[in-house]
Amino acid sequence: MRMVDIIQKKRSGKELTREEIQYFIKGYTGGDIPDYQVSALLMAIYFKGMTSDETAVLTQAMVDSGDTIDLSAIQGHKVDKHSTGGVGDKTTFIVGPLVASVGVPVAKMSGRGLGHTGGTLDKLEAIEGFHIEMTEEQFIENVNTHKLAVAGQTGNLAPADKKLYALRDVTATVDSIPLIAGSIMSKKLASGADSIVLDVKTGSGAFMKTLKDSESLAKEMVSIGNALGRSTIAVISDMNQPLGFEVGNASEVREAVQILQGKKVDDLRELSLVLSAHMTVLAEIFPTFEEAYSELEKNLENGKAFAAFRNFIIAQGGNVEQIDDLSKLPASQYKVEVISKTEGYVAEIDAESIGISAMYLGAGRATKDDEINHAVGITLNKKVGDYVRIGDPLVILHSDTENPENSIRKVQEAYRLSAERVEKPKLIHKIIQ
Ligand code: URA
Repeated sequence: MRMVDIIQKKRSGKELTREEIQYFIKGYTGGDIPDYQVSALLMAIYFKGMTSDETAVLTQAMVDSGDTIDLSAIQGHKVDKHSTGGVGDKTTFIVGPLVASVGVPVAKMSGRGLGHTGGTLDKLEAIEGFHIEMTEEQFIENVNTHKLAVAGQTGNLAPADKKLYALRDVTATVDSIPLIAGSIMSKKLASGADSIVLDVKTGSGAFMKTLKDSESLAKEMVSIGNALGRSTIAVISDMNQPLGFEVGNASEVREAVQILQGKKVDDLRELSLVLSAHMTVLAEIFPTFEEAYSELEKNLENGKAFAAFRNFIIAQGGNVEQIDDLSKLPASQYKVEVISKTEGYVAEIDAESIGISAMYLGAGRATKDDEINHAVGITLNKKVGDYVRIGDPLVILHSDTENPENSIRKVQEAYRLSAERVEKPKLIHKIIQ
């Protein structure tokens, strides 16, 4: 087999065989096929696409390029959740304990953030002592005992994806639906869960800006998951503004805890309940979505979900006093209001600009060696559809500098007001199964 023939075949829009796809993934991971040939193939895939069968074979080949995690020692039907990424998305902190509170085991591998805000692990490390270092045995024991554990991703899951992603990043081939679907699903499949619920974001703050593209990506990922033996569904949710009211690290933990304590009702709570209900139906704990939703809602009110979160934090070394008394979580030195200079209805809050504003405060990393400041972040006072008068604070910046000019500018760029009344955006656009 020759790589040049594979490139030519895809360039003419033909379907690659299983052997051809396996050949290029194996050859590239092993260092036998050079970057320039794989770049050419990626560009051909970008323009000509892949069939669902090709995408499923590509995904399996990427899974097979490295280790897979064996979760068979965990009792019960393991369900994972994955979000395609959004600003203010702290659903994992709610969904994990909520699903655990009805007995569904969640063995989560999570990452650090390289982007505007921290990743799940960075946010959890806002709690003193919380750590993700544990042996595989300890991880499994924690899931069996508490139904929830979160660990860092191990080094060798889907190494083909790691290499391909780095190449896509510098060859303008990231935003290809089969390549994104294969990349995300290869890591999920290698992580070992029996079922997967995908939260595919759509809107200005998402990878996929239009509902049509988000739906295509969701369908592709659901089809791969099901073809490779894991029951998979996708929820397409809105990312035309940040999720919830808090963006940062400690502040996102604080907001999630308030929801787990039944103290808040908002878009974050709703999305968490929808994702959790689908997870528990896939795990066959409840027969219908409606029943699952209603039972899970009770566990947000009666303290069971919060108890599951406390147990998980204690098991991973975290100082639970900071959870019981949220004022003990890290807090910034200054609170700086960003005031509206015009009036009208909030028509848009560009999530990406809010994320960058939070990064300028220190909540995220600009380069991989940057340190995260857990105390800083942004509280949104106004969301899409709200009416704003001149002088009203749009957000509060939690800052360790007195005048965070760059962050203020970014927030002002993020908000767009309209004289016309604006409806609150729909949160859940579609379910793909
Ligand atoms: N996230 C991934 O893991 N891979 C992609 O290709 C895009 C987003």
